[in-house]
Amino acid sequence: MSINILAIESSCDDTSAAVISDCNLRSNVIASQKVHEQYGGVVPELASRAHQQNIIPVIHEALKQANLKKEELNAIAFTRGPGLMGSLLVGTSFAKGFSQALNIPLIEVNHLQGHIMAHFIQEEGEEKKTPKFPFICLLVSGGNSQIVLVKSYKEMEIIGQTIDDAAGEAFDKCAKVMGLPYPGGPIIDKLAKEGNPKAFTFAKPQIPDYNYSFSGLKTSFLYLLRDNLKEDEKFIENNLNDLCASLQSTVVDILMSKLKKAVKDYGIKEVAVAGGVSANSALRAAFEDYSQRYKWNIYIPKFSYTTDNAAMVAIVGYFKYLDNDFCDISLPPFSKVTI
Ligand code: KG4
Repeated sequence: MSINILAIESSCDDTSAAVISDCNLRSNVIASQKVHEQYGGVVPELASRAHQQNIIPVIHEALKQANLKKEELNAIAFTRGPGLMGSLLVGTSFAKGFSQALNIPLIEVNHLQGHIMAHFIQEEGEEKKTPKFPFICLLVSGGNSQIVLVKSYKEMEIIGQTIDDAAGEAFDKCAKVMGLPYPGGPIIDKLAKEGNPKAFTFAKPQIPDYNYSFSGLKTSFLYLLRDNLKEDEKFIENNLNDLCASLQSTVVDILMSKLKKAVKDYGIKEVAVAGGVSANSALRAAFEDYSQRYKWNIYIPKFSYTTDNAAMVAIVGYFKYLDNDFCDISLPPFSKVTI
């Protein structure tokens, strides 16, 4: 008989619930919050309020789409952190209450491990190639930029990470100074398609090991705009595609150069990418290119698993269920990045 798990994700501004039967995804419902667009970024208090409104309908819909009654569930998995505390509290509290009411085990899931393990989700009728352990994963989102050595589904080591801004944050902040709406990453990606990636050059960080830094790039971008706007007030408008293409190509170069170093030093050619920025077309193209050039076995997630979703929480929940790795309802959520 299959193991049925309901998973809940509420770490930032997406309320999501998913149902998995073993590794097979049966539903993955996401309610995104449009309320933040007008503020140019996620407003934590508004996010937690929206989670409270969304959580019951989203879970109801996930069970309905999975064609499963709540009594058929074997466990509830939930994102415990990292994330926004107010947002996490909504999903965490609901998961705890629901597991108590149904008298079934509760499974805590690290959001970052979820992003990485999304590569193991199976969809109906799909024969999917999954990474072999150990593999290296580039985890890039609005809040994280890390290189992770994945030894097993639960044994992961961060071998490099950003010392300041995340890659997605760099996209979003640079988009904001160009007057583009939030989140800027997907818009930059779109505009960059018509631009010249070599039109402008920006400072690249010189920091040791496998760590990243994006704050210098952001400043360099800002200064370029400031200096040119003095001469031409329509500088952004007249160069929008080139600015986006040059910025995007710099971010991708920074990400790939450290990843290449890690792959070489660790001698592991199984390489995955995960997180919101993994939707970026130039980053995906760079992965394909490196796979050809350096014989990497690459794993690029489906677009639906790049941004926050509960399916990735469900798959970790399934593996933890097999290990009887359950948690107590007294466990609080956490906000700080850890893996
Ligand atoms: O993983 P995610 O949904 O949220 C967390 O940070 O947890 O990632 C969101 C980030 C945002 O910064 C967004 O701008 C970026 O991913 N993003 C992209 C693209 N799609 C989303 N950045 C560049 N190109 C994209 N196509």
